[in-house]
Amino acid sequence: MTVRAIVLAAGKGTRMKSSTTKVLHEVCGRPMLWYVLQALRAAGVSEIIVVTNGELQPRIDEFRVQGVVQKEQLGTGHAVRVALDAMAKQPGRVLIAYGDMPLVDADTYRSVLGALDGSGALALVTARVSLPSNFGRIVRGNGGVERIVEARDATEAELAIDEVNAGIYAFQEDDLRGAVARLRNENAQKEYYLTDTVADLIGAGKRVAPVVAKNPAHVMGINDRAELALARAEMNARLCADHMREGVTIVDPLSTSLEPELTIGRDTVIYPNSSIGRLSEVGERCVIGPSSRLSNAQLGDEVTVRESSVADSRAGDRTTIGPYARIRDGAQLGEDVRIGNFVEVKNSKLARGVKASHLSYIGDAEVGEETNIGAGTITCNYDGTRKNKTVIGRNVMIGSNTSLIAPITIGDGALTGAGSVVTKDVPAGARVAGNPAKPLAAK
Ligand code: UD1
Ligand code: CA
Repeated sequence: MTVRAIVLAAGKGTRMKSSTTKVLHEVCGRPMLWYVLQALRAAGVSEIIVVTNGELQPRIDEFRVQGVVQKEQLGTGHAVRVALDAMAKQPGRVLIAYGDMPLVDADTYRSVLGALDGSGALALVTARVSLPSNFGRIVRGNGGVERIVEARDATEAELAIDEVNAGIYAFQEDDLRGAVARLRNENAQKEYYLTDTVADLIGAGKRVAPVVAKNPAHVMGINDRAELALARAEMNARLCADHMREGVTIVDPLSTSLEPELTIGRDTVIYPNSSIGRLSEVGERCVIGPSSRLSNAQLGDEVTVRESSVADSRAGDRTTIGPYARIRDGAQLGEDVRIGNFVEVKNSKLARGVKASHLSYIGDAEVGEETNIGAGTITCNYDGTRKNKTVIGRNVMIGSNTSLIAPITIGDGALTGAGSVVTKDVPAGARVAGNPAKPLAAK
């Protein structure tokens, strides 16, 4: 039978002290909410509805789920009621999760669904934590869980209970609808507590099954920036572990930042202080780092990126980049390209074997195979209004400190002397030098 899920994410998250709604804060490059939805989908949930606020709702489409706005935050029980009003009545199980729990994995959602067998109305995840704590306390009687009491409504004796409510529930749909309709807001916060459904269902003679979380740290919600940093550390450690298990060497996971949805080939080595993100793909036997940053980068096999950054760009097999190079904005480096220190390549296509070893800017250019770009060469692509193109053929020798005033074309096999300022196209095989560059007498 289909499993549907309701994710509560309408809370403002006051303790974040932020103009951004809480569940949009990022953990390893993805909003917290993204992880919750991923885990629910991995657990087999087929339909998800997110209870949002006015700020989250306009962005909900990017998460490929239905969103429903809870105009006033009258409590978790009220939020669920808002969701149920937007859902078709349909027998089956409904998972409820909070959007600020990015570390909860699919197994936890599966286990709570598994605990809701034929005779039960509700299964919920509990956790043993150290006290004091702000979590709702699980009050057990001789027959099992009896009710949940929120910390602010609890007696001294109840506050001493170290089993708490994680905030993950699986309900039978009809039991959920009934219990939520009966909620009252007679409590310290004048809110409709979803947690009061426990006592309600027990009172109606139904069964409530607790599932104790294996790792309490993973079911902790994120409420402030310190907890956000802890969640990031845990998620990053998981991402590193996943790649190491698949044959990637990560010399220092603590100083390496990864994001979800990366491809990294076997025997690639990542040195310290490096980050890889935005759907990057890294081939096999590459060397990344130390101190490198890849963002939406596509690298072939045996590529080296040392103390450099590659953004929105690709590089072919055996190409080496760095130290201190910047490759950006749609640069396409072919195979066996050599990019050395203090070289910037922007929106340019460098064919196989091109070398630019020192101190150059190559922008809006096309460079043919095996061409050598001398130290200090600049493509002067901007004339104050427009970005102009530089086309350099194959086997060209651009002398040190050449300025190429675009738009310009340098033919195959041509040569420019050191210090040239090239203002006119250079035919194939020609040799020019000077400012402005003039043809040299044939040798
Ligand atoms: C809730 C539980 C508590 C549990 C804890 C676990 C209730 C009453 N209490 O407390 O037992 O130990 O979570 O983290 O459920 N939300 C809405 N609309 C609202 C109120 C909240 O969408 O009107 C959302 C929030 O965005 C958040 C989630 O529900 O994602 C939990 O709300 P929060 O106020 O953080 O509940 P807690 O006090 O932490
Ligand atoms: Ca909370």
